[in-house]
Amino acid sequence: MTTIHGKYILLTGGSRGIGPVIAEALAARGAHLALAARSEEGLLATANQLSKFGTKTMIVAVDLSQASEQMELVETVMNNFGRIDILINNAGLETEGAYLDLSWEAIQKTVEVNLLAPMRLTHLVLPTMIAQKSGHIVNIASVAAKIGAPYAATYCATKAGLAEWTRALRLELEGNGIHFSTILPGYINEVGMFAKFQIQSPSLIGSTNPDEVARAVVKAIEKDKLELFVNSSPARMLSVACEISPALGDWLKKILGVVDFQRKKVEKKW
Ligand SMILES: NC(=O)c1ccc[n+]([C@@H]2O[C@H](COP(=O)([O-])OP(=O)(O)OC[C@H]3O[C@@H](n4cnc5c(N)ncnc54)[C@H](OP(=O)(O)O)[C@@H]3O)[C@@H](O)[C@H]2O)c1
Repeated sequence: MTTIHGKYILLTGGSRGIGPVIAEALAARGAHLALAARSEEGLLATANQLSKFGTKTMIVAVDLSQASEQMELVETVMNNFGRIDILINNAGLETEGAYLDLSWEAIQKTVEVNLLAPMRLTHLVLPTMIAQKSGHIVNIASVAAKIGAPYAATYCATKAGLAEWTRALRLELEGNGIHFSTILPGYINEVGMFAKFQIQSPSLIGSTNPDEVARAVVKAIEKDKLELFVNSSPARMLSVACEISPALGDWLKKILGVVDFQRKKVEKKW
């Protein structure tokens, strides 16, 4: 079992949504947090929230779609903390819309933030982790990685890419003391990127909440869990069906209301 107490953690997406909830769960266990996102105001609010735990907190305002800023982020954290024990790639964005209605720039940015930034940050922190013979990379993917939700094609591509890339790298680096985990949350209604729609996910698909995601991150680190699915059982079964039989998966997505939910969400009919 890995102890979180005293670990130095770089968490992206620390300014709003799920990030601050994950940060609080980790600081409560005695971790020191470097929080990264674009909004300095949001990061400061999260840092204030963490002050009660008496651990070290630093913030870095950074645009993760910019390669130069990714490098600056890691350098800044290393200069201040001296080490990064755990990297949590949580920052992400969702580009809602029919594929052809989206600008190429929006599609590209989604890939940059959701997939390329985690890959690059990992590339930057791994050499030190390998040298210290310990480290943990936690990637926040999504149930979308497994089910191919329509009207979220780019988002699904980035999350599926993130999940498979994690699986591959985990085996490649086995024996080096580096652990990799993927967290697969479902819809979250309270906060985060879908909360703005003010709609409930289809009842047969269910939902999760930020605390459950934070608990999954803690569990992944402490118990070295490879993949944690954080959602109701029907959504889990849907993902398994999609893997076993794509045709069955497509049929289930229609009858479980996933296709209608996604379409209506982008048509803003709710
Ligand atoms: N909410 C859900 O239902 C749900 C479900 C499954 C998975 N997830 C995943 O959970 C993670 C967090 O999602 P969330 O719901 O908390 O989303 P959110 O509320 O939209 O927050 C996204 C976070 O990412 C940061 N971010 C976005 N673009 C960035 C950029 N270019 N550079 C640096 N930081 C950037 C945002 O900060 P700034 O705007 O300040 O930069 C913010 O802190 C994402 O990876 C998401 O895909 C969410």
